[in-house]
Amino acid sequence: MASILVLNGPNLNLLGTRQPEVYGSVTLAMVEDACTAHAQKLGLEVSCLQSNHEGALIDAIHDARGKHQGIILNAGAYTHTSIALMDALISVEIPAVEVHLSNIHAREDFRHTSYISKAAQGQICGFGAQGYLLALDALAARLKEAGTA
Ligand code: DQA
Repeated sequence: MASILVLNGPNLNLLGTRQPEVYGSVTLAMVEDACTAHAQKLGLEVSCLQSNHEGALIDAIHDARGKHQGIILNAGAYTHTSIALMDALISVEIPAVEVHLSNIHAREDFRHTSYISKAAQGQICGFGAQGYLLALDALAARLKEAGTA
């Protein structure tokens, strides 16, 4: 069974209480549970991880080699700054989907740039927690096409 790494970056552990008017009221645990349930329906496994540390996120991407066939990444604010995370994604050659709860293009100018987009298959933003499930759908279709799932 193909396995997907659901990776969340800085401050996303605070989901549910962090600016609910922007990020909604669902907690990270709820997002991860929804991913697990949705993945089951798609015949996929998921592994979920959150870190506030750039290096730990890079390590998780490196560790995905040989274990996970797809990555869903919400890199939080590192999206807009981290060439290192972009390089890690390019290096491991695992298809990745970039997710943001908010519509980053409708927010401050500094959120319009994404280094992650340069390494991802595509970006889903603005649909709240549902974005993670849409990303799972996209990866499931990609893996099926590639004969990996
Ligand atoms: C975010 C958008 C980022 O700009 C922000 O720094 C976050 C969350 C989102 O999910 O909408 O931490 O990635």
